[in-house]
Amino acid sequence: MSVITIMPSGKTVEAGEGMTILAAILQADPDFTHKCDGNAKCGSCHVFVVEGRKGVTKTTREENEKLDALVGVGSKSRLACQVKVLGTEDIKVEIPVL
Ligand code: FES
Repeated sequence: MSVITIMPSGKTVEAGEGMTILAAILQADPDFTHKCDGNAKCGSCHVFVVEGRKGVTKTTREENEKLDALVGVGSKSRLACQVKVLGTEDIKVEIPVL
């Protein structure tokens, strides 16, 4: 079990192993944009994993290819729908302000 802190709201959600960051964010913010419903196609669920990066699954090639096509990405960028919680440490994510 990990605690996910979602910035900038500061809301927290408990997430078990295997849960996606997208699912965790939706618990705290049901209006969070996820246009392709978690298929790594739209990029609308882009977030920064600012703490606890060892507590989530690694980036897949499919995710990397989509991130490469987005504006405003950085070394901490992930697609929330593709990131699964390992349950080994707490995680902080930041939703980019558009
Ligand atoms: S919901 Fe579309 S890429 Fe994550």
